Amino acid sequence: MTTLLRRTLRGDRRIIEQVDRVDSRYQLLTHVATGGMGMVYEARDEVSGARVALKLLHETDPETVLRFSREATILAGLDHPAIVRYVGQGVTAEGAPYLAMEWVDGETLHERMQRAPLRAIDTVELGGRLVDALAHAHARGVVHRDMKPSNILLRDSRLDQVVLVDFGIARAAGGDRSVTATGALVGTPSYMAPEQARGDRDLGAPTDVYGLGCVLYECLTGHKAFEGRHALALIAKVVLWEPPSPRSVIPRLPEALDRLIMRMLAKHRDARPTDEEVAQTFAALDRAELQDVELPGTAPQTPTEPAATARLVSRPGMSLVIATTAAGADGSAGDVDASVRAQRANAIASVPDAKHARVDVLRDGSVVVVIQDRDDDKRGARLALACARALQRTDPTLITAVTTGDLGSRDLVDVTIAGLAKEAIARTFANVRSSGRPPGAIRLDPATERLLDEPILRVDGIGYVPGKIG
Ligand SMILES: Nc1ncnc2c1ncn2[C@@H]1O[C@H](COP(=O)(O)OP(=O)(O)O)[C@@H](O)[C@H]1O
Ligand SMILES: [Mg+2]
Repeated sequence: MTTLLRRTLRGDRRIIEQVDRVDSRYQLLTHVATGGMGMVYEARDEVSGARVALKLLHETDPETVLRFSREATILAGLDHPAIVRYVGQGVTAEGAPYLAMEWVDGETLHERMQRAPLRAIDTVELGGRLVDALAHAHARGVVHRDMKPSNILLRDSRLDQVVLVDFGIARAAGGDRSVTATGALVGTPSYMAPEQARGDRDLGAPTDVYGLGCVLYECLTGHKAFEGRHALALIAKVVLWEPPSPRSVIPRLPEALDRLIMRMLAKHRDARPTDEEVAQTFAALDRAELQDVELPGTAPQTPTEPAATARLVSRPGMSLVIATTAAGADGSAGDVDASVRAQRANAIASVPDAKHARVDVLRDGSVVVVIQDRDDDKRGARLALACARALQRTDPTLITAVTTGDLGSRDLVDVTIAGLAKEAIARTFANVRSSGRPPGAIRLDPATERLLDEPILRVDGIGYVPGKIG
């Protein structure tokens, strides 16, 4: 019985006594990690004497228990050297489901990458083993849905001993674990595929290919493919931006590898390579050439710094509309209903000339619209404002901003969302009627202000136009 466990469960002696040994078989030794859905312990299986990893869920509602046990059964059917081996499952006396797996001694890929980027040859070998594991799971109808470095273990800290954990299990119903039952985002969803960012329910093999692409991108370059100062900025970039190619950081990287990673990161799942294509491309790479690839520049970059050279998928010189709620602006919003997302998408679709608009409605209901009018910047800005007003009409509590700019010169998404977060705070603390903001105030940046022939109201130095006309 560990002190960590005591602390975790402090306050309920009865539970402490009972949880000391799970199912009178597993003796808990050390608390290893606490995640959104449960806790992981190092434990001793008293039947075999072996060390196991025991994952214990917080939730005990019957639906979660049933789902968990169904998925644990599927994991039991997987048999692959790079997938954590199943040992057993059950339910504790308190009704909390648990899963016992082989214990993998070593470190996570996340920990490994903290030290240094991987050599290209090691990344390719690692990627080959992981895609093989994914293909094994996908062939059996299992999608991981949460590919990221902390779910990839290295046995004995060896890159050639990779083990995938956290496999398709215990996701919040229908969704994934970046959102907890209470709706709060856990951590930064840097590895979330665009379809996950939009809250799509039918995630498949391409979602894992994308996640693996993100992991390998980071292994090679030492940078995450997507970063943002704010959860919403990060998610907006996942649907909007194309990160710089690995070759722009590592010039001698084989072109076939560079192209493969970028295709794995394709926004549309149909454009991504299949497991098999990924495996074949890895296998066909010239090992001698890979051996010669030097590590990327060792200049340290702070992890919170957004990728400065990221390109928007569309060309620069466009208007960006972002609408979110106060909760979205502080990064704590949960998923909204598909009907709310559809309503917001329809609002944009009904704006005349909306064919110039690219719309993404995110899982928390935030809306990102990109407008580019190649011939007329002013017309583009007017269309952006019309979209912002259409959104405002669906929900007057939305906090909305329109920004126009050239992405070469600054990070538009981060700046816009930082503005929305400030706006949310300002509205919380000011009596809106006396704050001078027009009804349904739409926040503008100076570039958009200059393009619009509208009376601008200025409050605390920020330009606004009314969300409602007339
Ligand atoms: N089989 C295992 N052997 C050793 N450590 C493990 C094992 N499974 C998980 N861990 C450790 O626990 C952490 C969390 O486990 P994971 O299954 O990813 O749960 P969650 O992300 O839901 O907390 C992992 O990042 C890893 O450090
Ligand atoms: Mg995990």
